[in-house]
Amino acid sequence: MFSKELKSALRSAKNIVCLTGAGFSAESGIPTFRGEKGLWKNYSPEELATPQAFLQNPELVWEWYTFRKKLILGAEPNAGHFALTELENSVEKFHLITQNVDNLHQRAGTQNVTELHGNIFKCRCFRCGKDFEEGLPLQEEIPSCTFCGDLIRPGVVWFGESLPFNAFSDSAIFARSADFFILAGTSAVVYPAAELPIYALNEGAFVLEINPERTRLSTLVSESILEKSGTVLPELIKILK
Ligand code: OAD
Repeated sequence: MFSKELKSALRSAKNIVCLTGAGFSAESGIPTFRGEKGLWKNYSPEELATPQAFLQNPELVWEWYTFRKKLILGAEPNAGHFALTELENSVEKFHLITQNVDNLHQRAGTQNVTELHGNIFKCRCFRCGKDFEEGLPLQEEIPSCTFCGDLIRPGVVWFGESLPFNAFSDSAIFARSADFFILAGTSAVVYPAAELPIYALNEGAFVLEINPERTRLSTLVSESILEKSGTVLPELIKILK
């Protein structure tokens, strides 16, 4: 499955950085954003994941997020998540950058995680930004801010919004300092996350892409494996044993 160059780059790697996307959680039963039609009623994620959509119809957006949270709460981390935790424990330096908001990497035990697009289990006030703990059971009705009375929104990044403070600048530093970079389960179409593997490549890192489908980065990376991350990563960590 792996080339000689890959094995040698991995064995000598001192600093591994990984970027994951929705496809990484697909094997846990969580649908991806693209390529999946009819995910929820007749709306596409792009129509619901915007501040404008929340202003127009907050109940609908809250309902969509509650639907997703329930799906995630019923899911478990998969073999890919656990393999990354093992990888983290096997190398000198490891950092995981994820576009996923589902918390599954943390549930699988990975420690050094930067969430580029927030976390679906966090909320904050739409107006004043005060953080809010939703807790369990999930609240079917949108809570109001205890500070200013406005509506509480999901703590994720929506289209047209900035990434959490420092999340991208820190990630860019991690990507540039990597000697081995893994890009798994992302279509690499959403910027600025899709720039990170390019930063790593420009600094001479070995960049491995794991995705059953080709992406626009497939021809640029050092090696592209057209397989599922839950299949490839458990095999990849065997190289270090
Ligand atoms: P996408 O839904 O765009 O892409 C998922 C990718 O995962 C596709 O390229 C699939 O081929 C691949 N894939 C599917 N199953 C896989 C598996 N088992 N193993 C490995 N790869 C698999 O998801 P993202 O790239 O994460 O942003 O999308 C990026 C961002 O767009 C998301 O974070 C979200 C979305 O809009 C925001 O919400 C801001």
